[in-house]
Amino acid sequence: MTTETSRRSPLGRRAFLAAAGTAVAAAAAVPAVRALTGPDLPTDRPELPGLPELATTDTDGLRVAELVAASAGPGLVYNGSSPGPLLRLREGDRVRVDFTNTTDAPSSLHLHGLPLTPDVDRPLEHVMPGGSSSQEFTVTPGCAGTYWYHPHAHGDVERQLLAGLAGPVVVTGPADERPGLVEADDRLVMFTVSGREILANGVRRPGTTVRSGLTRLRLLNATAGDHLLLGCVRRDRSRPPLHLIATDAGLIERPHRVQEILLAPGERAEVLVETTEAGPLGLVRLPYSVHGPGGEAANDEETLLVLDVPEGLAPVPLPDHLAPVEELDPATAVRTRRVVFDAAPDGAFTVDGRVFDMDRVDARADLDTLEIWEVANDHAADHPFHLHSYPVQVLDRDGVPEPFRAWRDTVNVPAGSTVRLLVPFRHGGGRTVYHCHILNHEDLGMMGVLEVAG
Ligand code: C2O
Ligand code: CU
Repeated sequence: MTTETSRRSPLGRRAFLAAAGTAVAAAAAVPAVRALTGPDLPTDRPELPGLPELATTDTDGLRVAELVAASAGPGLVYNGSSPGPLLRLREGDRVRVDFTNTTDAPSSLHLHGLPLTPDVDRPLEHVMPGGSSSQEFTVTPGCAGTYWYHPHAHGDVERQLLAGLAGPVVVTGPADERPGLVEADDRLVMFTVSGREILANGVRRPGTTVRSGLTRLRLLNATAGDHLLLGCVRRDRSRPPLHLIATDAGLIERPHRVQEILLAPGERAEVLVETTEAGPLGLVRLPYSVHGPGGEAANDEETLLVLDVPEGLAPVPLPDHLAPVEELDPATAVRTRRVVFDAAPDGAFTVDGRVFDMDRVDARADLDTLEIWEVANDHAADHPFHLHSYPVQVLDRDGVPEPFRAWRDTVNVPAGSTVRLLVPFRHGGGRTVYHCHILNHEDLGMMGVLEVAG
């Protein structure tokens, strides 16, 4: 995607922005149902593997997990597998994650999305071959959701991820015990990429038989740079709705009905799907263009996973309430900060016209303040904005207010558009980063340093 994305839009700037605005509104709210082409539900399919769970040891109430990055033939693995093992945590757990790098290149372990303070996350620190590091923290109450881990060694992140270094994290909490969620068949679906194929839990186009009339899909986009527009389709081409229950950084207040969901690289979403009508139900990747409306889609429609619904599953009512999401008051923001994504004519990807320099602080903020970040994308392709340590809420997209409150850590900023975020700085200051989560762009310098004082 490198060469196409550095190309400038041939359209005039105004026309381009106007056109892009329409798409943003559509993508952000409830996207229109689009016409699907012929049925694409493969019949002989491998089983969707459950990812192995990472065993932890318990010492005096501290749960210790160990992850080792290693070479395996041409690839890279965490604890011998790719995707890496599932790290399952519970809100309130005291945890230490020990990481050892036995590969031959500097690497690191970033727990993407977990609200860790900058001194625990340390995204600028590399772990040399043979070296190790530890992160100790308490899992923040209220953050139950789907997260992941991957390397963060600047300049080499995309290569290491594509070689196999990525694994899932699931945090559970009291909200998961609500009626509607307890009965649901809870499935983690982690998308990675191999060559040009999108894999689900490491397998191409798997299937699985669901066990409840309500299926909870924890969708995790762990590709290096592929936007995934996802929807469900039955064999007769009818489209059951998806009930969005969680964004990146946890549960939302109540299910929000959509037909499709766009997951930018790095982003997660959880949906409930009613699975009472017997037969195959495809989770499909729909065509999506990162070049705005009228742009050429990077992909054709493709089934990524088939849910086989057996006869006789009783319906399960949807939960009516999930979890409170704090209301932030934009009037209390201490400043509005503009962050501009762009690409330079020489092919560099920039933030505010500059490429990343780890010794330069690009943004200074104060702990216990709220800021509005106006993230503008002046480029002709989408770029997903990701901020470490501080979960954000979307205020509006090109002026269109966000239809529901939600915590996020990765937010797609479509070509030519502006997304305003509410950014509260809490729990601890320090030096951290914000960047585009298309890893090739991040490696090429589309990243800035944030220092939170206090
Ligand atoms: Cu998922 Cu700074 O990264
Ligand atoms: Cu980018």
